[in-house]
Amino acid sequence: MALREIIILPDKQLRLVSKPVEKVTPAIRQLADDMFETMYAAPGIGLAAIQVAEPVRLITMDLAKRDENGETTPRPRVFINPEILSSSEETSVYEEGCLSIPEYYEEVERPARVRLRFTDLDGKMHEEDADGLFATCIQHEIDHLNGVLFIDYLSKLKRDRVQKKFSKAAKRAAE
Ligand code: NI
Repeated sequence: MALREIIILPDKQLRLVSKPVEKVTPAIRQLADDMFETMYAAPGIGLAAIQVAEPVRLITMDLAKRDENGETTPRPRVFINPEILSSSEETSVYEEGCLSIPEYYEEVERPARVRLRFTDLDGKMHEEDADGLFATCIQHEIDHLNGVLFIDYLSKLKRDRVQKKFSKAAKRAAE
């Protein structure tokens, strides 16, 4: 496993539309391993491959909760070529953040439940219903595969403000 660098706003690669994974090769398994290491180290609960500059439709996620002893049993999940088959009319609001937009959080309204189709690391296809945090997280990560960021759902004023902040920081870092 290897830690990968997470690209951050305003990196233009975040706006790429990622390509489908044709076949689950050893390179894809390696990428998933690297993404888990990177995601846990960050720490984060979800990561799309484009966030480590790999434009393929692959997502890693771990929504494991802490138990009463404050311990967490890892629950790593991989979603390859995920698709949303249907979305509920009912919506829910979560405060979202993104490893590519560090330390910025805003509430986003999305469908509360989605039906999902995806391939696993064994190349097997699955359908599954998602609700709660899982529904929000998978929609956020699938958006990444389409070059969409959660700030796109905010008002233009808020979006412009955060984009400016990160553009300035990137300029300062380049100086
Ligand atoms: Ni994100």
